[in-house]
Amino acid sequence: MNETTAFQFIIDLIYERSRIRLNDGKHELIKARLGKRMRLHGFSDLPTYCEFLKNGEDEEELTHVVNSLTTNFTHFLREEDHLKFMVSQALPAVCGNSRKQFKVWCAACASGEEAYSIGMYLSEHFPTLSGWDWSVLATDISTKALGAAMQGIYPAQKLGPLPAQWQRSYFQKGRNTWEGHYRIKPALAERIIFRQINLLKPYDFNDSFAVIFCRNVMIYFDRPTQEELMNRLSQHLLPGGYLIVGHAESLTGLSVPLQRVSPSIYRKA
Ligand SMILES: C[S@@+](CC[C@H](N)C(=O)[O-])C[C@H]1O[C@@H](n2cnc3c(N)ncnc32)[C@H](O)[C@@H]1O
Repeated sequence: MNETTAFQFIIDLIYERSRIRLNDGKHELIKARLGKRMRLHGFSDLPTYCEFLKNGEDEEELTHVVNSLTTNFTHFLREEDHLKFMVSQALPAVCGNSRKQFKVWCAACASGEEAYSIGMYLSEHFPTLSGWDWSVLATDISTKALGAAMQGIYPAQKLGPLPAQWQRSYFQKGRNTWEGHYRIKPALAERIIFRQINLLKPYDFNDSFAVIFCRNVMIYFDRPTQEELMNRLSQHLLPGGYLIVGHAESLTGLSVPLQRVSPSIYRKA
């Protein structure tokens, strides 16, 4: 294997495992992100590391490759207008006057900030004390990002976008070795169910959701994969449920059973 075939091997491996399309312009990114894994195993170049991966016997190492090559950038209250839309329009429309129970799916939740932001909005607007019963399913392909999400501990500067009142209501301040960090309080944490799910492999659940967030992940997929994903997610929406994608994403031109509410918000007919 030479360097060119090694890059192609990684590009194909990532596509097969996650359907993320890394193009030829991503060679430097691949090298930089896999460098740590290569050094750990004592491989001095990419072709030798790929020969080792090619055996396919080390499933754990393949998981590390996927973890290294997914981009997990996120932050609290990202694209907050979607969260406002969820509580002010989407959920009132789906729940009407009778339903006080619903589920939200945060697909591709990365390190958890998105799922906890959804949870904070829901806690404020649909309090359990008023009889509301809701949960958030938060999923991602990256076991590393999910590990951080489940731990729910964030450095102080990450809480920046959150109102001071929410920082007090939903976080515990760390002490001693955790000085400068904040942890999500149990009352919120227990409403979020984290699970590893590859969005392009069969799902092992049948739940229907009032709202599905699938933001800033579609951009990594090619058009056929985007269409496949949107159709799969649509099957897990309640009638009248909402699918929300990132502001940089759109379903224009895709054949999906959804009505457009705005460029990034769609509703199941
Ligand atoms: C840029 S982050 C977006 C995080 C969050 N949704 C947001 O908007 O802030 C993209 C996430 O998609 C996840 N991802 C990529 N391919 C995936 C797949 N096939 N199945 C599930 N998650 C995937 C990555 O691991 C990463 O955490």
